[in-house]
Amino acid sequence: MSPSAIRPGIFWVGVNDRVTDLFEGQWPLPHGVSYNAYLVVGERVALVDGVKAPFGEELLRHIAEVVPPEGIAYLIVNHLEPDHSGALPLLRRVAPGAEILATKAALPLLDALYGIRDRVRAVSDGETLDLGGKCLSFHAIPFVHWPETMATYEETQRILFSCDAFGGFGALDGVLFDDEADLTHYEGEAIRYYANIVGAVSKPVLRAIDKLGDLPIEVIAPSHGVVWRRDPGRVVDLYGRLARMEGEPAVTVLYGSMYDHTREMADAVARGVTGAGVSVRVVDAARVHPSTVLAEVWRRKGLVLGSPTYDTGIFPPVDQVLRLILAKRVLNRVVGLFGSLGWQGGAVRKMADEVAPLGWDLVDKVEFKGAPRRDDLARGEELGRAVAERVRR
Ligand SMILES: Cc1cc2nc3c(=O)[nH]c(=O)nc-3n(C[C@H](O)[C@H](O)[C@H](O)COP(=O)(O)O)c2cc1C
Ligand SMILES: [Fe+2]
Ligand SMILES: [Fe+2]
Repeated sequence: MSPSAIRPGIFWVGVNDRVTDLFEGQWPLPHGVSYNAYLVVGERVALVDGVKAPFGEELLRHIAEVVPPEGIAYLIVNHLEPDHSGALPLLRRVAPGAEILATKAALPLLDALYGIRDRVRAVSDGETLDLGGKCLSFHAIPFVHWPETMATYEETQRILFSCDAFGGFGALDGVLFDDEADLTHYEGEAIRYYANIVGAVSKPVLRAIDKLGDLPIEVIAPSHGVVWRRDPGRVVDLYGRLARMEGEPAVTVLYGSMYDHTREMADAVARGVTGAGVSVRVVDAARVHPSTVLAEVWRRKGLVLGSPTYDTGIFPPVDQVLRLILAKRVLNRVVGLFGSLGWQGGAVRKMADEVAPLGWDLVDKVEFKGAPRRDDLARGEELGRAVAERVRR
């Protein structure tokens, strides 16, 4: 994509990354991701946000279509994760006069990551910067996504450059704005991004939504995904629901199975959910990537976990995603557990122990030996029905 004017004097100069397979080395990017950078052109020019290092030259070409890069006066570093800051050394060489503005908490990171110490200034929370015809203000949003993160607001055009907040996976497929985009696709990618990248800092997200809500915002320009100009409230609502972990009134059945016995039970549980008039998604923990599993779990209020007993414990593929769910601190779930055993068992007991710290609403547990018999399957259906009844609003 080439640079586009968002509003008078404000330009998207970011890049689409369609070659990185794994974001942060672990989250698949089947639809790519965008690193959005923005030029704010007043009498003086500021670049807000940046791109990952391999895309620095493309960023420079985009900037050069709007203004000479060497004339940039300010590099606004909202966040130092290298998906945004990687091109800073290059920008420094090309625009040696540019001053870097970031929060105080960013300075040690800037030094640790790039050895950059000169022409760096810490801005305070709420501080303004008059560019002549454009005016920026800076708003700390700690831990969305790192401790040093801030958002930048441009007063004359009422644009919020929200950085990782309100972002999503998915490269910009010939679109830049929410009113041009297939939002089913981009909101799906935003949910997966939220669950994978931002989910663990949901409390800071809620604090940021609260704080930024004081600004008169007409456009939200995040550092990943589409720019929200028709309905910025829509992505704020989406993020709010995800951060509060409300979940749709539906159920995810997440299971693993070696010889299909637990899988048969998962199907019975799902029948029970559907029978109660609630929608359900069945997910095989060994076959669906943890990135997607996490998004499925984040979407729905109900969660039924199933595992065979394996070496006295939880089947490893189920255990692996369970650990991820625990690490991301998914709260407010209505939960059922089921599992199979050959002799002593242990999977169900250990799942119950593992999830206890999250304070989930545990509806019931169902255990069976070997192949599930008709009455076992009936208990599975009943478990599905009970969880469904509890999530239905
Ligand atoms: C590799 C392996 C390890 C197992 N370890 C245990 C165990 O420690 N305790 C137990 O009660 N059953 C154990 N079992 C038995 C299974 O839990 C039991 O056969 C269960 O029904 C398998 O469910 P599935 O068909 O969904 O894989 C083990 C089975 C396998 C194949
Ligand atoms: Fe980040
Ligand atoms: Fe990011």
